[in-house]
Order: sequence, then C-alpha cells, then structure tokens
Amino acid sequence: MNKASALLAAGIALACWNPLASAASQEPIQPVEPAVIKEPAKVELGKKLFFDPRLSRSGAISCNSCHNLAMGGSDNLKASIGHKWQQGSINSPTVLNSSLNIAQFWDGRAKDLREQAGGPIANPMEMASTHELAIQVLNSIPGYRAEFKQVFGKDRITIDEVTGALAAFEETLVTPNSRFDQWLRGDKKALTVREAAGYELFKNSGCVACHNGVAVGGNSFQKMGLVAPYQTANKAEGRAAVTGKDADRFNFKVPTLRNVALTYPYFHDGEAATLTQAVDVMGRLQLGRTFTPDENAQIVAFLKTLTGDQPAIQYPVLPPSEDDTPRPEPFLK
Ligand code: HEC
Ligand code: HEC
Repeated sequence: MNKASALLAAGIALACWNPLASAASQEPIQPVEPAVIKEPAKVELGKKLFFDPRLSRSGAISCNSCHNLAMGGSDNLKASIGHKWQQGSINSPTVLNSSLNIAQFWDGRAKDLREQAGGPIANPMEMASTHELAIQVLNSIPGYRAEFKQVFGKDRITIDEVTGALAAFEETLVTPNSRFDQWLRGDKKALTVREAAGYELFKNSGCVACHNGVAVGGNSFQKMGLVAPYQTANKAEGRAAVTGKDADRFNFKVPTLRNVALTYPYFHDGEAATLTQAVDVMGRLQLGRTFTPDENAQIVAFLKTLTGDQPAIQYPVLPPSEDDTPRPEPFLK
C-alpha cells in the first residue's frame, strides 16, 4: 500500500488542514487549555485516593506507582510491575491529559476516566483488591468517611464516589504552556529553526493525519503497521478485543504525543526505548518513509517541545487506618 491509499484506508481526511496556513486556528494541533477546577474538595479527595496504596491488596501499590506524577504520569517501564511483582501485559500510558482521550486504555475499552478508574483496583495483575474490600478499607477510616461526606453528602462510601473523585483529580492533570503551544499562540521565537522545521516535517510527511488535535493524538483508533506489518511478541489485539471485528485487529488508540519526551519507552509493547526509534518505526510502518538521521532528529527536536507545565502536586497526607481497617496482605501466597 502506498502512503496516500494507506491514509485513505485509515479513513483520514487530509483536506481538513492546510499546511501553508500560519494562523494557530488553522494548525492541525491546538494548545492545551489550563484546567478549570470547579470542585476543589473533590479534586483533593481524588488526589488522596490516587496516592493511597491501601486501594491495593498489598497495601504497597497506588495509582501513582504506575502513573508516577514525578515522571510524566507513567512508570517508564516496558510493562508495569503489578501485585506480587507480576509482569503487566502492556505499557502503561500517561495519565497526563488523559481527559482529552476519546476513550481510555490502548483498546478504548473504558468510555471515560470514571469507568477506567474502577479497573486497576480489582485487576488481579495490578492492585489485586476487590471493590468490596477497597470500600471496606475506606469506610473504616474516619478521615475518609468525613471527607467523602463533605464532598458527596452521603454517609457510606461506594465505588461510584471513589471513581468519581479519581476522575475529577485526573481531569486536572493537563499540561498547558509547552513551548510548542507558546509558538501556536503566536510567539514564533518559542521554537528554534530546527524545531520548527521538525514540525513542518511532522505535518508534511503525514504524522499529523493521526497525531492531531489538542492532545496530538488520543482522538482515534488506527492500525499499528498500516503500510508494513509491526512485529511484536506482545499478545494485545487492540480494538478487536472490544469490537470483536477482525478489521479492528491491531488498531490501537493513537497515543497522545504531549510530554512524549517524558513517557518512554514507547508503543503498546514498550519496545521502542527512544524517540529516535519510535519516529523511525512510525515513518517506515505508518507512512512508508525512511527518514534520514537528520530528518529523524528534527522530528525528535519538535516532539520535545510538546513537554508542558507539569501539574504542581503537593504530596497529600493520608488519613491513618483504624483498628478495624482490613490489613494489607503484601506477601499473599
Ligand atoms: C500496576 C500498574 C498500574 C496501576 C497500579 C494503575 N494503572 Fe492505570 N494503567 C496501567 C496500564 C498498564 C494501563 C494500560 C492498560 C491497557 O490499555 O490495557 C493503564 C491505563 C490507565 C489509564 C488510561 C490512559 C489512556 O491513555 O488510555 C488511566 C486513565 C489510568 N490507567 C489511571 C489509573 C488510576 C486512576 C489508577 C488507580 C486507581 C491506576 N491507573 C492504577 C497500569 C497501572
Ligand atoms: C496511521 C496513523 C499514524 C500515523 C500516520 C503516525 N502514527 Fe504515530 N502512532 C500511531 C499509533 C496507532 C500508535 C500506537 C502504536 C502502538 O503502540 O502499537 C502511534 C505511536 C506513536 C508514538 C509512540 C507514543 C507512545 O507514547 O507510545 C510516537 C512517538 C509516534 N507515534 C510518532 C509518530 C510520528 C513522528 C509520525 C510520523 C512519522 C507518526 N507517529 C505517524 C498512529 C500513527
């Protein structure tokens, strides 16, 4: 398949952007807006839950273990380490800007952040608790009971309040003000000549057909290995696991490229260790184009300008357990 028909097969309209336009509104990528916090108490509670390892059976794994907010919202591992040091089946995507995704997970099986947040708590490979146990733990802690009551007005905590608070916190994890966004907003000195040339190449070679919008991705499912097949030992089937359709095999949610300099290693299997490798694979397999080392380096230079202001997180102090709080079981046989 040549590049044009490959992109057509992916259902991509290249006509919707004009590579010669200079006004920000006509660029295929738009700046990230800062978070507007409407319910600060709910966000604070969600932050506590995000950092609380007591949501896991071992008492040692929190959301932040695999989505480390000190490391771009990811764990920088090929596959995450779960309960009892189990090897995860897929690379952990960043939680930064995840509110901008059309759906959550590589295959989009959760429709939004709320639906997503219930998953890892009960996943035996990840936090290995159950919703019942996690709720029992939270209900036994007076500090949490009071805080949930204040935020949700209910006496008993249920999983719905837990996922609602987690999602409210995650919605604040956006990264505005990257150098590229400053450039989009009209500050043409925000990028070097080389970085701007990298952006031109990113647009003109066709990367932008899939990596566009505010998140520079996150808004469609596309085939990995469009022009030439991708070889991997990873068993993930992509979107087909959700739709059951053979045509969706190896279709993955296009990852956001915001903060991509922080979220190595790359791809669902974590097999690309560096941006240079990832750009090379994308060029060959998605566009049928082999970049020269200099072209590759220009695109990488552009991608590094997508690192935005990281959320300023003040580490939360968690309310202590009580005598009747179920104890963690870190070394369960
Ligand atoms: C043991 C590691 C681990 C833990 C703990 C964990 N996650 Fe994840 N998370 C992952 C992996 C791996 C994926 C990708 C799974 C997939 O796509 O099939 C993921 C996916 C996500 C996504 C989807 C992002 C996207 O772009 O699709 C969000 C949001 C998320 N996790 C939030 C959370 C929250 C909230 C918690 C705590 C309740 C949590 N995670 C706990 C490893 C973890
Ligand atoms: C046809 C759609 C499509 C095109 C064109 C495309 N990509 Fe991608 N890109 C994807 C998909 C899908 C993934 C996820 C693949 C996977 O993990 O298996 C991805 C992943 C990536 C990643 C890894 C991100 C991460 O967090 O793992 C980078 C970097 C990237 N693309 C850059 C580029 C560049 C640079 C170009 C142009 C040379 C490009 N892409 C062209 C669809 C596309």
